[in-house]
Amino acid sequence: MSEKIKECVDLSVLLQTTERLNHVKDIDSLLDNFLFEARKFSNADAGSIFLTEGNNLTFSYVQNDTKAKRDPNSNKELYQKFTIPIDEQSISGYVALTGEPLNIEDVYKLPRNVPYKFNKNIDKKSDYHTQSVLTVPLTTSAGNINGVMQIINSKDENDNIRPFGEEHKLYVNFFASNASIAIERARMTRQTILRMVKMAELRDPKETGSHVNRVGSYSIEIYEKWAKNHSKTEVDIKHFKDNLKIATMLHDVGKVAIPDVILKKPAKLDDDEYKVMKTHAFQGAKLFDQDFSELDHLCFDVAYTHHERYDGTGYPRGLKGEEIPLAGRICAIADVYDALICKRVYKEPWTEDDVLKTIQQESGKHFDPQIVSIFMEIYEVIRAIKDRFPEAE
Ligand code: C2E
Ligand code: SIN
Ligand code: SIN
Ligand code: SIN
Ligand code: FE
Ligand code: FE
Repeated sequence: MSEKIKECVDLSVLLQTTERLNHVKDIDSLLDNFLFEARKFSNADAGSIFLTEGNNLTFSYVQNDTKAKRDPNSNKELYQKFTIPIDEQSISGYVALTGEPLNIEDVYKLPRNVPYKFNKNIDKKSDYHTQSVLTVPLTTSAGNINGVMQIINSKDENDNIRPFGEEHKLYVNFFASNASIAIERARMTRQTILRMVKMAELRDPKETGSHVNRVGSYSIEIYEKWAKNHSKTEVDIKHFKDNLKIATMLHDVGKVAIPDVILKKPAKLDDDEYKVMKTHAFQGAKLFDQDFSELDHLCFDVAYTHHERYDGTGYPRGLKGEEIPLAGRICAIADVYDALICKRVYKEPWTEDDVLKTIQQESGKHFDPQIVSIFMEIYEVIRAIKDRFPEAE
């Protein structure tokens, strides 16, 4: 194939990819897709994204094929929390500060005259060897920098690590400057969802959305494992996760219809109060019954079915087994785990042992046994999520 034709092919792929990314709604899904595409183009083994928050870069997404092969629970790294100052000391900080992309052949052989250093501790801690690193700024159309993307260890046909080429730098940089708008939009979508939750469920200015961030994150991790077991394609998995994250964050949005005296009662509900409380599933579903989009459809399913039980004893309809949509079966376990492991206005947290024992005892009763097994298999990831979004004091 001539170079000219190859460039045209790349351009059309670039345009199609950009178009697809413009339809991703959830911020974490967007970063996931974005990093995946950038890595695919340069055959990079790993990568991460940092977004700016004030004068810092906040770790926001990571992928690493080598670590994923070694550890089935490697997704727990997605839920680490750390920040890097925007200054000349680190590679990412330097790129965020100057807005200049950096293409480094070998981070262990940096020239003497550069201000930044490579943090070798990250490799040491994770038993990984970083070599070639391409770091590009994420810039908005107004020229502001809202983060950096770093891709690591480009590999040739024989799986040997090579430097990133000039074409990788051009492509990834172009791609990055176009992704910024999508990132801004997805950050706003997340804010909107969190405001809806606050309004509906909590009416509490102290609430930061920790519960729904956790339930959303548990749910997509469970789904990803389920989907891999069922041989779904990578693209289908990412697409479903995008909608599922939002739908599960909104699982209790029907609580907007529940009076405060019931919702916030610091004690056990009586039978009549509980009857009213249980209407939140149907009330939530009603918000999405227009079914304008795939997302509406999934929000409808999750709101309506997250209190159904696998054995048919749940509410509001008493659906049984696989009559309950997958998303509802997943959200059920995510929601109950979170309700038991955390404090609620009406109860103290349970011990982790008691919670896990209960979840296993409820396999085939409250919960889908397949989902319970998956939950236990990825429990390290579930635990990392719980720690990532602590309750506000
Ligand atoms: P939630 O707090 O998010 O709890 C979700 C589900 O976790 C509950 O659904 C239930 O299946 C499980 N769960 C939570 N805590 C416990 C517990 O201490 N023991 C047991 N066995 N299961 C627990 P459920 O029961 O349908 O309740 C739906 C929602 O109703 C709850 O959401 C909560 O907002 C509210 N609610 C339920 N019981 C009470 C209560 O006694 N007092 C108050 N104020 N609210 C309650
Ligand atoms: C957010 O995503 O901005 C909210 C974080 C949190 O719930 O702690
Ligand atoms: C999926 O397509 O991944 C989920 C389908 C379902 O709800 O069972
Ligand atoms: C449930 O699955 O109903 C929650 C835990 C319990 O049964 O005590
Ligand atoms: Fe609920
Ligand atoms: Fe809930």
